[in-house]
Amino acid sequence: MSDSPLPPVLVTRRLAPGVIERLTPSFEVTLHDDERPMDRAELLKAVHGRSAVITTLDDVVDAEFLDAAGPGLRIVANHAVGTHNIDVAACAARGVLVSNTPGVLTAATADMAWALLLAATRRLGEGERLLRSGRPWAWAPTFMLGTELAGTPLGVLGMGRIGQAVARRAAAFDMPVSYHNRTPLPAAGPDGGPRWLPLEELLAQSTVLVVTCPLTDGTRHLLDADRLALLPAGAVVVSMTAGVVDELALAAALESGALFAAAVDNFEHEPAVPAELLAQERAVLVPHLGSSTVRTRQAMGGLAVDNVLAVLAGGEPVTPVTPR
Ligand code: GLV
Repeated sequence: MSDSPLPPVLVTRRLAPGVIERLTPSFEVTLHDDERPMDRAELLKAVHGRSAVITTLDDVVDAEFLDAAGPGLRIVANHAVGTHNIDVAACAARGVLVSNTPGVLTAATADMAWALLLAATRRLGEGERLLRSGRPWAWAPTFMLGTELAGTPLGVLGMGRIGQAVARRAAAFDMPVSYHNRTPLPAAGPDGGPRWLPLEELLAQSTVLVVTCPLTDGTRHLLDADRLALLPAGAVVVSMTAGVVDELALAAALESGALFAAAVDNFEHEPAVPAELLAQERAVLVPHLGSSTVRTRQAMGGLAVDNVLAVLAGGEPVTPVTPR
């Protein structure tokens, strides 16, 4: 580390255009200027002596990481709404503050859920692959039939900001919405609105299910083979949170024909995608693109920077994360 008098800040990944410039005047910034994560040894070395670190979901922040950082670390600003990479209690125990980037990625992520929902129900991945393969095809009344959305029950598992934004968009498709959340939302007005259901009932009624709840110890593999089996025959599952849907159980439900289709935005052991899922024609699989728009990534980076600026100026994080 240099002898700079400015507080040292580590940024573990290249940020969207215009974001890093907000840090450089006030701090001695070390940027891992790459789209790929540092390996663990590199990360542990790089974090040593820092006052703040901007992390991504690939950077595991645990006791080892905090030991490597040393006592000067004041904030871990996660460049994500999820925080399952961070042992928040271990940070709290050492007085290290934690922040995430809620709110700013809601619209982009809800849009992606709908892009995947439409792709899965109308078989866009399969259709694209067919054309690009050069195999012969012909329009036919029975060719590549999909699932129609109007009137079809949509279930939303996890009714936080993103779940609510997914539900709002359902009105445009004339889909009745039910949801499950630990805590039901305040009652909807007389015109109805999404209906809270116990998890098992939600599953039994959801011809299309979108999973947006955060990954926690309580939600890991919540949708295992037994719970997936509660969905109506020919249901479609869209997974926006890695680790909540058991990926192998999802692949098996596609293989057996119990599910019509599925779509997955992010994966439990990224960048690995299970071969069992890749083998499924009816699985739409994308490389963790939920929040990937220029505007949203600039806003996420900006919020991570705001959190660092606030804490290193002696204040509280703008969007704090506290132990559950
Ligand atoms: C994305 O996966 C996030 O948690 O922000």
